[in-house]
Amino acid sequence: MSVETAGLQQFSLGEQIVGRIDALAAISETPEHLARIFLTPEHRAAADLILSWMREAGMRAHLDAIGNVCGRYEGDRPGLPCLMLGSHYDTVRDAGKWDGPLGVITAIACVAELNRRGKRLPFAIEITGFADEEGVRFASTLLGSRAIAGTFDESVLAGRDRDGVSMREALQRFGLDPDHIGAAARVRRELLAYLELHIEQGPVLEDQDIPVGVVTAIAGATRLAAQLTGMAGHAGTVPMGLRHDALAGAAECISAIEYFCRTDGNGLVGTVGYVRAAPGATNVIPGQVSFTIDIRAPTDMHRNRSVADIVRQIEAIAKRRGLALQLDVTHENRTVPCAPWLKSQIANAIAAEGFAVFELPSGAGHDGMAMIDIADVGMIFVRCRGGVSHHPDEHVELADADAGARVLLRVIENFRAAN
Ligand code: GLV
Ligand code: MN
Ligand code: MN
Repeated sequence: MSVETAGLQQFSLGEQIVGRIDALAAISETPEHLARIFLTPEHRAAADLILSWMREAGMRAHLDAIGNVCGRYEGDRPGLPCLMLGSHYDTVRDAGKWDGPLGVITAIACVAELNRRGKRLPFAIEITGFADEEGVRFASTLLGSRAIAGTFDESVLAGRDRDGVSMREALQRFGLDPDHIGAAARVRRELLAYLELHIEQGPVLEDQDIPVGVVTAIAGATRLAAQLTGMAGHAGTVPMGLRHDALAGAAECISAIEYFCRTDGNGLVGTVGYVRAAPGATNVIPGQVSFTIDIRAPTDMHRNRSVADIVRQIEAIAKRRGLALQLDVTHENRTVPCAPWLKSQIANAIAAEGFAVFELPSGAGHDGMAMIDIADVGMIFVRCRGGVSHHPDEHVELADADAGARVLLRVIENFRAAN
């Protein structure tokens, strides 16, 4: 896979990418379980490493007002509008190492290759490593890309993490000014398009036996935070018929959500990924429970109707059990179509690399959901083993990472802005 140039061993794009994926994965809250969470020391260390890679690739690079890493490679003259490439470098908890970083690292590898050849294009290339796409620490998500798109909602600064630290405080401790997040915002005329390469996170490309695919659209999502409040009490003395057990109520809600989505038959998916019961002791009836709900569907209308049905069911369960219910929508994103003109440029590059052109939608969320407010969006998917993602077993073969990089490089070199 490596090539010899003038006696020098030159690594393939795939080899460079895999090496850097491993280097970034070493930056984690704990060595056993990969977790790189917004505004933590790991966020800082990863940002420093990515900034150094950007500079090595011939880019000017800085950390912006929300903690995104931003690099710029000028075109054939300074100040031209840019093709923006990017993905995120935060992770979920006990994450795989490819979700997000593959897009950032591959984009840097492509720019490094252009720089190595001394090649400048009739547009600038910018790469953004988004600081928070997953929304793990605070209830809100897409924080990095919303800041760039100028749609950052300042009310989320008051949100608190599980240790009670507000986003405002966390930004200040990180050395950022929460009152200047607006400085990260970009405007439409500065961007020719936003293009993201990402692992598929599903099994379709593997099933088709092809390494890369053209994304048609990013499915919308609704996330809610639920809190049920009942009455804590003695596990030995309160008869079953007189209890207001918040955790038993939450369990019924969770089963109802699962049943509703499982029997939908039209691609609806629902997940309760976080539950906290208080006070949390073996011999105490749980008095208060918080849990999250994530609902996605192939169309916005279907998702909106389903969310309304699920909310009605949860309200009925809470009422019947005598539990107080607080239900808040913490995140809502409509389905984002990828631009046809970008899809066809990606398809041309895939075909030129000798692969079959295959289109598929994204069930997972991506930064393009925010970037659509200031740019047309295109996405390239790279096959991942077994479709496994948000899991430490997430894996991309070196040859597929290489194929993705070659496709992205070809898209960049042949890129034509929309008229
Ligand atoms: C992001 O990975 C999401 O789809 O939740
Ligand atoms: Mn993810
Ligand atoms: Mn991702």
